[in-house]
Amino acid sequence: MNEINKIKDGINTINKSPLSKLRDVDFLSDVIGQCGLTYDKRNIYGDDILYMNEKPLKNSAAELWKIPGQIVNTSLNKLRDVAFLPDVIKKIARNHKPYKNCRFGLWQIPRQLAEALIYLSDKNIKSFIEIGTYAGFTTLFIVSYLKKFSDFSKCISIDISDLRPDDIKDLFTELNIDHQISTSSKFQNKKFDLCFIDGNHGYNWIKKDFLNIGVNSKFCMFHDINDRNCGKETVPKFWNELKMNNNILFRIEVKEK
Ligand SMILES: C[S@@+](CC[C@H](N)C(=O)[O-])C[C@H]1O[C@@H](n2cnc3c(N)ncnc32)[C@H](O)[C@@H]1O
Repeated sequence: MNEINKIKDGINTINKSPLSKLRDVDFLSDVIGQCGLTYDKRNIYGDDILYMNEKPLKNSAAELWKIPGQIVNTSLNKLRDVAFLPDVIKKIARNHKPYKNCRFGLWQIPRQLAEALIYLSDKNIKSFIEIGTYAGFTTLFIVSYLKKFSDFSKCISIDISDLRPDDIKDLFTELNIDHQISTSSKFQNKKFDLCFIDGNHGYNWIKKDFLNIGVNSKFCMFHDINDRNCGKETVPKFWNELKMNNNILFRIEVKEK
């Protein structure tokens, strides 16, 4: 099954499951895993590696599959035109540019995300902002899940670039998720029930994201607060400072190995 179908299936499972099932951490962790985890060669998933999506091929067939279609529909004369062919190839490459640096799946440890969502399920979350959309799979999962428990009025995901494949963009539209190319500075002092910080992991950015939005939110989750792969001057440093100030709201952390 391809990666897009996996997240679609996951959303369907959320939509048809009773709330009691969705609060069962084993069930929910499995649903998250079945949605497919982003390929990551750092061995971060432990036993959940079984859910990891395959390594994407470089300039994969997925990127190039449209070429034969274009060629089949083109006259032989055109195909012999030296000005025509490079242009088609350039156009195809441009169309597929966003896919190049993007791996599909949720970049999350299933049980951590499941526990966080179950915790949030009775908190009446009506507005949500995510910093760091990446391919958008995690966004779709979080929003589909929380929408089962409360009516959303505002739902925004921001990133400094748009890496979402077209099918994921369509699902964003279906779920009324507003994707914006932006940083947290644009949302300074805006209030959200839930803020999820998973953008630039550098210390200064984490701090900025928290001070711009997180601190004004009812609930703020950080990703990678305990991820040694991120380096010392990153999320763990800021998280430790925050803990000292007793401002902890919730946490998702990468398991210590
Ligand atoms: C680790 S990925 C996010 C993974 C995603 N939340 C998931 O679970 O699949 C980090 C993302 O943050 C984006 N990013 C980097 N700097 C940013 C910034 N200052 N503001 C918003 N997004 C940023 C990157 O482009 C990248 O897509």
